[in-house]
This record gives sequence, structure tokens and C-alpha cells, in this order.
Amino acid sequence: MHLKGIEEELHRDLSEVKSLSDLQQVKAKYLGKKGLITQAVAGIKDLPPEERREYGSRVNRLKEYAEQLINQKEEELNREDIQRQLSQEWLDLSIPLEPLQGTHHPITQTLRRIKNIFVSMGFSIMEGPEVELEEYNFDMLNIPKDHPARDMQDTFYVNKKGYLLRTHTSPVQIRTMLSYKPPIYMVAPGRVYRRDDDPTHSPMFHQVEGLVVDTEVGFGHMKYTIETFLKEFFEVDVPVRFRASYFPFTEPSAEVDIGCVICRGEGCRVCKQTGWLEVMGCGMVHPVVLENCGIDPEFYRGFAFGMGVERLAMLYFGIDNIKLFFENHMRFLRQF
Ligand code: FA5
Ligand code: MG
Repeated sequence: MHLKGIEEELHRDLSEVKSLSDLQQVKAKYLGKKGLITQAVAGIKDLPPEERREYGSRVNRLKEYAEQLINQKEEELNREDIQRQLSQEWLDLSIPLEPLQGTHHPITQTLRRIKNIFVSMGFSIMEGPEVELEEYNFDMLNIPKDHPARDMQDTFYVNKKGYLLRTHTSPVQIRTMLSYKPPIYMVAPGRVYRRDDDPTHSPMFHQVEGLVVDTEVGFGHMKYTIETFLKEFFEVDVPVRFRASYFPFTEPSAEVDIGCVICRGEGCRVCKQTGWLEVMGCGMVHPVVLENCGIDPEFYRGFAFGMGVERLAMLYFGIDNIKLFFENHMRFLRQF
């Protein structure tokens, strides 16, 4: 075909191009393997030598021109594409949506309420590690080497010798007394681990430890502190009883029971038919423990308590199985 004809047809074709795929077709028609311009270039060698130079340079100019036009068209189409996206694809960030209703886990809520009550009573908040020294978790708390709690049946040990997953928050008592001088008024919330598993026992659960060390401290102060806390926590008068008990690190020791709110004292699975649920252990800090931490028991006394957070949450919310806290079903969690 005549070169002028090719050029005119190219102009016509390009004016009808609407998209990048149209353009691809045009490009193939002129510059592809069997394209019109490609063929013209191939034809140069068949011409008589005297015509080759003049025709050849015209063909090459046409080829360059065609490439230039096609590139321009491509840029133009890309620009239009971006303009179209900018004008059509947009987000109205001001449209009101269904609010995403997140809430705090009931254990988080319970921990916060417990901490707030103690902070309002003048206590500081302390923390200790979950992987703890056996020495702090047992030895310095006056728990003898052959105590059953140290058994592999009850305690999760870690591979490193002398370390374990703390079985209670009481080692934070030791850490606090080693680092601070009395007067001490602290609570220490955190996770603890035991080989336990039933409707009121979980292998991982939370405790809040409490420790007071001061010069004039007696059992009555402890009882008052715990009763005041429980009244604040439950927002009503719940039945509370102190039951004589034993812990190696306190003397005398007691356990605190709350009237079961699930059955209102009539006896159920949660309270094991007793009408009561144990929520904490407590007692006067054993003089040996004070001594272990370099505090003179002739001069200072202390009381301590350790409460089960899941137990308190079960009673507060009326939940009959501790597992519900850890399964994280949305239908359960949405209720809080
Ligand atoms: C202790 O852990 C003592 N360290 C408490 C203490 C602190 C006594 C300071 C004296 C002075 P006990 O093993 O009883 O005691 O646990 C305390 C509370 O944790 C229990 O009353 C109970 O409410 C809760 N608890 C115990 N085991 C579990 C478990 N497996 N799952 C959920 N809660 C538990
Ligand atoms: Mg107990």
C-alpha cells in the first residue's frame, strides 16, 4: 500500500481508539509482525538500489511517526483512566455507619474494677513475671521442698532449672519486699498457672495479690480491708465468711467464701452443693517470710491476700462455668 495511504488510515484508526485494548489492536495492525509498516520496512530490500535510499528513509520516518502517535495515545488513555478513577471511585468518609461495638472482656473489666477499688483505698499496683523463680514462688514463701504444691502434678515447670510458671501471685510479695521498705500497701494482678481443670478451676487464671506491711497491723485490719473491698466490688451486701485455713506463708491464715449467687445458697454445681464459693486466701504474713526479705518481724507486721479473679467475675456476672471466659464465643462476650 502507498505510504501516504497507510498514514491516513493510521490517523483514522487512532481517532476511533477508545481503550488500551483498541490501541493494542491498532499497534498490531501497523507495527506487529505482519503489520502494514513492518511489511513496508521488509519490502525495502526488494526495491531497485536507486529507489531504496529515498523510499527507505520515508518508511523509517513513517515508522517512527507511528510509534510516536501510538505512545502519545497510550499516555492520553492512561491519563483519562486515572481521571475517571479519581472522579468515580471515591469514598465518603462522612457517611454514618453501624458503629463497631467493641467491649472489654469480662475478666479485663473485673480486673479494672478490682484495681480501681484498691487504688481508691490507697494501694499501689505492682507486677511480677509469669515465668518465675522457684525460689520466689515457693522457697522464700516458706513452702517446704516436699510440699505437694511443688509436685509436677500441680505445677507447670519450664525447661530451665529453677524456673516455673508461677502458681500464684504471692511471689510478687517477695519481689516487693526485696525492693521496697515498709510501709507497703500494694496489690499485684496477673496470670497464674496450675494443673487444674473443672467448672471452677482453669489451668490459667488470674489472681490479685494484696500485701500490707506496716508497724501497727492486725487481723482486724485485714478483715476490714477485705470486707470493704467485697462490699464495693459486689455493690451490695453479699454473705461473706472467713474460714480458718492454712498457708505456709501466713499465720494465722483464712480463706474467704462468698454466698453462691448462682443458687443463692441452695447448693449447685458451681458451689459443689455447699452454698459457698471460695474467692481468696489470706492471713498475717509469716515472720519467717518477713525475715527472708530482710524485714524485722519484731518491728513490722503484715497481712496478705490472694483472690481468684475468675471466681469473683463468675459471682458478679452470674456465670456458671469458668471455661466460658476462655472460649471467646461472640454470643457470650457480647453480653458484657
Ligand atoms: C493461693 O494461691 C494463695 N497464694 C493465696 C494467698 C495469698 C493466701 C496471700 C494467703 C496470703 P489458693 O490456692 O487457695 O491460694 O488460691 C487463691 C484463689 O484463687 C482461690 O480462692 C480461688 O478463688 C482461686 N483459684 C485457685 N485455683 C484456681 C483455678 N484453677 N482456677 C480459677 N481460680 C482458682
Ligand atoms: Mg484455696
